[in-house]
Amino acid sequence: TTVAAAALAVGISTTGALAACDDGEVVIKFSHVTNTDKHPKGIAASLLEQRVNEEMNGKACMEVYPNSTLYDDNKVLEALLQGDVQLAAPSLSKFEAFTKKYRIFDLPFMFKDINAVDAFQASETGQALKDSMQKRGLQGLAFWHNGMKQMSANVPLISPSDANGLRFRVQSSDVLVAQMEAIGGSPQKMAFSEVYGALQQGVVDGQENTWSNIYGKKFFEVQDGITETNHGIIDYLVVTSVEWLDSLEPDVRDQFLTILAEVTETRNAESTKVNAEARQSVIDAGGVVRELTAEQRQAWVDVMKPVWDQFAGDVGQETIDAAQAINN
Ligand code: LMR
Repeated sequence: TTVAAAALAVGISTTGALAACDDGEVVIKFSHVTNTDKHPKGIAASLLEQRVNEEMNGKACMEVYPNSTLYDDNKVLEALLQGDVQLAAPSLSKFEAFTKKYRIFDLPFMFKDINAVDAFQASETGQALKDSMQKRGLQGLAFWHNGMKQMSANVPLISPSDANGLRFRVQSSDVLVAQMEAIGGSPQKMAFSEVYGALQQGVVDGQENTWSNIYGKKFFEVQDGITETNHGIIDYLVVTSVEWLDSLEPDVRDQFLTILAEVTETRNAESTKVNAEARQSVIDAGGVVRELTAEQRQAWVDVMKPVWDQFAGDVGQETIDAAQAINN
């Protein structure tokens, strides 16, 4: 089925990515789950593809499979380890089977904005997280930004008690399960590709995501509105397998990692803007955006933040302290 899925993805690809691959080139298949345009990850992946195919022509080529056309995030890390793809960029919430250290990124109200996330990732503690799954065969190459998460449901959410009894889709993260339980919701882990249908059919009542995902996958069309909580973050790890990275000729590896570092810097600097534009696009398309007063937002902080206590052991108090020091 992997072959069939690949063929399908190629068949509906509009970029003609395969044409970039010639005999003798190292083929880098990159599978991800979001849109390609108006999305921080989608834009970065396309830029990476373009630059690899132009600048490494004859040595390497890249094929990007966006929109879950090849794998959902719950399958892609296994696919990397089996060599079916060479690159992925799942959100940091999707690594639970490999490390509990990434739980720091899911703790609600841990980071005040993406700049704080960026500074934490750039610190020694943050950089070490890229190497933390080597024993399991995975090598982190770069952190890519998306942005701050917002809450949405099929009823207006102003106070956290409005979420009482609602079913929320969450990514595959126990921290996010605990966070939704803290507001009285009943969380359900689900692949990103299934969220729109689940909201539309009432399998779940609500979800949390960034503006670029809410716009890109049209969640606003099947929700009462979006509440601007900025209560958490979605960020990504660009990840490969240790085995594949080790198999590359040093000059190919160096050139690829240099291009990746440059794309990361360029596109991470634009992520906040891309999400602000997606927020406006939601409004322009008739979606309802609800802003909270400082007092209303504080009620969400008060209910969600105690979740930290449940996971302090996994992430380490000193890591929490380091992240908090950056916010101040
Ligand atoms: C989600 O599953 O909601 C996100 O991680 C999707 C993504 O890659 O942004």
